[in-house]
Amino acid sequence: MSDAPLYNTLKKHIQAKRASFHTPGHKGNCGFLPLDGRFDLTELPDTDSLYESSGCIRDSEEKAAAFFGAKYTAVSSGGCTLAIQGMLAAFAGAGSRVIFCRNIHRSAINAAALLGITPVWVTHRRDCGEGLPGRVSPEDIQAAIESHPDAAAVYVTSPDYYGCLSDIGSIAAVCRKYKIPLLVDNAHGTHLIAFGKHPVTLGASASACSAHKTLPVLTGGAWLNCNDESAIPAIKSSMALFGSTSPSYLTMASLDLAREWMEWEGIAAFRRLAETVSGLREVAVSAGFGLPRGECDPVRLTLLTWPMGMTGNLAAEYFRQHGVECEHSDGSAVVFILTPFNAESDIQRLRRAMQDFPKGIPLPFQSFSIEQLPEIKMSPREALLGRTSIIPTAEAAGRIAAEAACPCPPGVPVVMPGEEINEKCVNILLKTGITRINVIE
Ligand SMILES: Cc1ncc(COP(=O)(O)O)c(C=O)c1O
Repeated sequence: MSDAPLYNTLKKHIQAKRASFHTPGHKGNCGFLPLDGRFDLTELPDTDSLYESSGCIRDSEEKAAAFFGAKYTAVSSGGCTLAIQGMLAAFAGAGSRVIFCRNIHRSAINAAALLGITPVWVTHRRDCGEGLPGRVSPEDIQAAIESHPDAAAVYVTSPDYYGCLSDIGSIAAVCRKYKIPLLVDNAHGTHLIAFGKHPVTLGASASACSAHKTLPVLTGGAWLNCNDESAIPAIKSSMALFGSTSPSYLTMASLDLAREWMEWEGIAAFRRLAETVSGLREVAVSAGFGLPRGECDPVRLTLLTWPMGMTGNLAAEYFRQHGVECEHSDGSAVVFILTPFNAESDIQRLRRAMQDFPKGIPLPFQSFSIEQLPEIKMSPREALLGRTSIIPTAEAAGRIAAEAACPCPPGVPVVMPGEEINEKCVNILLKTGITRINVIE
């Protein structure tokens, strides 16, 4: 045993040999990647430079753009977070107004704060089933554009964590009609290119894709795809505002190899995986689990566990004891990320654990959301960069939130940074176990 606690813990985790249904998409099956420490290089005369790419990095980006059918693609080793920051900076810019769906990831809220963006919130229709955030509708996006004609962009997360897909094709058509760019957080959907459901295929102006979540890419590898000529010149300089000057060549090379693998084998492998997942969904339904309704990512498996009498968090523990590690769990669901790099033995283990899952009396379902959004008192920038303190939620009525407080289910923040925490918010947060909250002093 060495004296390195992180390394030791990772080693112990690996020795447990649980089946990985979480990120990264390579599932530890890195033998496929012909990369080792020698490839951990830096900007040298022959290795190009990310933010001024004109050599091998640019060639790799051009191949990725051709693969995704985008006019321009940039690589990121700073995750989708960096792609989101670059996308918002290049398309919307500092001090602008942006129409956001309410279930945005914290990377987008933080980027909005850093850029001084004023958000306009669009709430979700609860059309995926109890306990899930739901989809944003083209009609609601249109209404938001009509009431905020000065908005610089529309920003939508699709798929969401649970694999639910919003109707990006119709939302893109609305955005085209009003000549406003549509930016899609496609963190969970890089592989959707295999199913003709990638946001860029469906008409988005740009998408940020967390490739490491579902493709055989080292953690931190992401692509920013852009289909709008006018934004292209600003993309690299926008990413450079936020990104490290030492991007990981290992991660960038893994993106290059993953794109090549997708072209040669990956598309077919994901289509075969969709059949496997379809079979697993049938097993899940006959075991008594609920599934999300409507259009979903064909390879994401989300099980609603409350019909089985168990919270998602307890169910995740059950799966862990059966050698299966999920990606996410909350009060009502467990989420599994499957990729072609899962071995058949992983799939069998998951199938057996679902079949043997103890069936209880369905839990009385409680999912909390607010019909009326709280009043905005200051910008996300002022709230996130201001002086804050953490206080008991019970004492927070009338205070201004300095964080997004998000009960799961349904995974949509009740208050956003800069919004006033009202009595209703306090009630929901307390009922969902959020007992402390960060507020403006
Ligand atoms: C919806 C969504 N967007 C963006 C991100 C950020 O991605 P990354 O971790 O690659 O920076 C995540 C990460 O979990 C996410 O779930």
